[in-house]
Amino acid sequence: MKKFAKLGSLALAIALICALLTGCGDGVSLKDVQKKGKITIATSPDFPPFESLSGGEIVGIEVDIVKLIAEKLGVEPVFEQMDFDSVLPGVQTGKFDVGMSGITVTEKRQKNADFTEPYFLAAQSIVVLSDSDITCKADLEGKTVSVQTGTTAESYCTENGYTVMAYQANNDACAALTSGKVDAWVVDNEVAVALSAEQNGTTKVLDEAMTTEPYAFAFAKGSDSLVEAFNKELNAMIEDGTVQGIFDSYGVPYVSPKQ
Ligand code: ARG
Repeated sequence: MKKFAKLGSLALAIALICALLTGCGDGVSLKDVQKKGKITIATSPDFPPFESLSGGEIVGIEVDIVKLIAEKLGVEPVFEQMDFDSVLPGVQTGKFDVGMSGITVTEKRQKNADFTEPYFLAAQSIVVLSDSDITCKADLEGKTVSVQTGTTAESYCTENGYTVMAYQANNDACAALTSGKVDAWVVDNEVAVALSAEQNGTTKVLDEAMTTEPYAFAFAKGSDSLVEAFNKELNAMIEDGTVQGIFDSYGVPYVSPKQ
């Protein structure tokens, strides 16, 4: 009996390590969430206009989209707040059902998580102080940039030889620029515009973008039926103009990833 218990815990430990390392669990199915009657959504709400906190409530473009999808699937959305670098690991290990955080789909991330089809095409922008001499990407050479930990901005800037200062919270990456700790802040374009607008004219967003960033929602590997259900609802909402309407209501130009 003891031996079996030992074997059982060994198998569990191996399964957990396996899921942690490769995300090779069975995933979350549509039935799983419908049986629970709710869907847990991991998010880092420091990313306006996609997700941010307003009076303790998580609001934004992605919140509106996911709420509508959850309604269509007949489940209650439960938003769980965390730092961005905990979102994908939390989804990969099956702790949360969906990752919603302006997540860019990359080949590397696709090895460890499943994604919906992209619903929006963002870009990586450079934000500098209004009186900065930096006017384009080339001027950034040899400069120090701030980024949020675990983001595509961090990997891009590290891989391209910039001196990178990474911050857990997006607002701290922004504050590093306004307090003069770095020469530039690299962040997704619409977030750059939204947060720069809150800096009383002390910062500006440069016209030249660094990368393109297709946004999608993330799931544990093997969540085929849930991803399929999300894709179906998401595509219907793109086709009937619902997604466009949500972007309009935030005053954000909608850029389709299908071009
Ligand atoms: N799009 C970038 C990425 O996927 C940044 C996302 C940051 N999201 C957030 N909610 N702070 O890496």
